[in-house]
Amino acid sequence: MPDLGAIVHEIAAEMRNHPEKGTVADYIPALATVPADRFGIAVVMADGTCHMAGDAQEAFSIQSISKVFALTMALGAVGDALWQRVGREPSGSAFNSIVQLESEHGIPRNPFINAGAIVVSDILLGRYEPREAIGEMLRFVRALAGDDSIVVDEEVARGEQETGYRNMALANYMRAFGNIHHPVEKVLGLYFHQCALAMNCRQLAMAGRYLMARGRNPDTGRSVVSPQRARRINALMLTCGHYDGSGEFAFRTGLPGKSGVGGGILAIAPGVASIAVWSPGLNARGNSLAGTLALERLVQHTGWSVF
Ligand code: DON
Repeated sequence: MPDLGAIVHEIAAEMRNHPEKGTVADYIPALATVPADRFGIAVVMADGTCHMAGDAQEAFSIQSISKVFALTMALGAVGDALWQRVGREPSGSAFNSIVQLESEHGIPRNPFINAGAIVVSDILLGRYEPREAIGEMLRFVRALAGDDSIVVDEEVARGEQETGYRNMALANYMRAFGNIHHPVEKVLGLYFHQCALAMNCRQLAMAGRYLMARGRNPDTGRSVVSPQRARRINALMLTCGHYDGSGEFAFRTGLPGKSGVGGGILAIAPGVASIAVWSPGLNARGNSLAGTLALERLVQHTGWSVF
């Protein structure tokens, strides 16, 4: 077994000195002010050991990574009926693209693009009242991470609301096709709040453990999802988790992963480890530049690719 403690520190040092930082997302004011030089990594192993380096304990906005937790909850609420309203194909388009919705009758390509995640929020509102829904999601993520200190950053949520014209367009457009059932403001209220969840790398890697552990929460031994569902969520992360950069991410790391515009990535080595990296500078496809490179290095050191 390689010395993981040494490897994560070596990776953090390399990323700190990496000349290219990428561009910090600036369309939400609270994200624009995050310093580009931050880098954190946390690796939680199947036996519970955790290796961390860099800014692994500094909270950041998990943004679209929340789509994994929302999907898990919505599948728990309605089961495979969810797939009548959301597809399972990579989109090949940007995360907030609207173009495919017209010819595909308001059915989003997958649950990890914005349109798909907005439908998932709508599905959750079939089960919970809006305020209750975000409370449930917070409870869910806290239980997965085994950490009650996780919160929603209200300033980020407000910023999403104030700048979310595209998301409003997506939701209204899908409502016109009958694929959004609740008032658009309520659906987006939930979506914006889930995107504004603030977590650090350690908390995020801990929260991802059920995807490493065949659907079980290792703390309680209880099933979060069935092994089959955990496998399917991982498959969607591998094929759709980085938008139109999903192929490139899979090529470079060979791991299921989900990125967010806050610069975080949750990656899963099934049966082996749950990994979170964070670096706010993004590449041209809107995925963390140093975060992707760090995961590539980790796989080079450990051989953890699923292939
Ligand atoms: O919907 C939005 O604009 C964002 N709050 C979430 C997007 C996101 O993280 C997409 N990412 N890579």
